[in-house]
Amino acid sequence: MASNLSTSRVAVLGAGKMGGILLQAFLRQQILAPDHLSATVAHPDRAQILSAQWGIDVSTDNRAVAARADVLLIGVKPFQVPALVEEIRPSLTPDKLLISFAASVRTESIERTAVEEVPVIRAMPNTPSMLGAGISALCRGRYVEPDHMALAENLFAAVGRTVVVDEKHMDAVTGLSASGPAFIYIILESLAEAGVKVGLPRDIATLLAAQTTFGAAKMVLETGYHPALLKDAVTTPAGCTIDGILELEEGGLRVTLIKAVMRATQRAKELAAG
Ligand SMILES: NC(=O)c1ccc[n+]([C@@H]2O[C@H](COP(=O)([O-])OP(=O)(O)OC[C@H]3O[C@@H](n4cnc5c(N)ncnc54)[C@H](OP(=O)(O)O)[C@@H]3O)[C@@H](O)[C@H]2O)c1
Repeated sequence: MASNLSTSRVAVLGAGKMGGILLQAFLRQQILAPDHLSATVAHPDRAQILSAQWGIDVSTDNRAVAARADVLLIGVKPFQVPALVEEIRPSLTPDKLLISFAASVRTESIERTAVEEVPVIRAMPNTPSMLGAGISALCRGRYVEPDHMALAENLFAAVGRTVVVDEKHMDAVTGLSASGPAFIYIILESLAEAGVKVGLPRDIATLLAAQTTFGAAKMVLETGYHPALLKDAVTTPAGCTIDGILELEEGGLRVTLIKAVMRATQRAKELAAG
């Protein structure tokens, strides 16, 4: 069974932006030796460039690469997943582990195409993974054992934190943590713009806004306190912060953010339904 990471051969089929981020993190952190890691892309010229750049085997031959690996990460675009799984089906036996990080593709649809009882894990990473500050939600398919899940969590821990959820929550994860960075960038951009409005140079305003966002997130993560409690601690009676909070409440920031996540979740559901 593909359950021991140090001895597993791992392949990323579709090593584009996200696949490349994962691969490079595995190599940088020596989670896998270069000769235990391989990848595929669609274009032969890109395969050659990436092979030289990463020092691993990169080709366009999904079947051959899938046959040699124990753990297969699927990183093609969601609409390409069925054809890819179909292509590598001869290698999909119960002793392999398949991990798809294609958005909106359900484990059940991969299992159906695979035919055999292959363990399938679905993952949803986000873009801050690029800096090791990502969060990936993982959910299990029908044939996944705890060892498989532990292996997948170790792989995705290379690019940030991991959480395990039921598959029914994956659309919500898409709406919150996958789309979320875009929402936060808008908040951050607005804070920087506000700094400019009250007279700060733009670069300083942007730095103040970004580090404040980072610091507030770190406070939530590392103290474990409820965000409301941390907010109350900043808000002195008759001080400045409470005046700002009144504006936020009047502008409906809270409800707007809740609706943004609800809409993104709804859209993820629609995409998953095809
Ligand atoms: N980017 C993100 O932040 C993010 C976050 C979460 C999930 N995802 C998921 O990750 C997947 C990839 O997204 P991406 O942004 O990384 O896209 P991308 O950069 O376009 O990567 C897709 C890769 O698939 C390769 N490819 C296409 N057809 C192939 C085939 N038949 N066999 C082997 N490789 C093939 C492409 O090769 P070429 O390079 O030769 O064209 C490309 O390298 C998507 O399913 C997406 O939902 C992405």
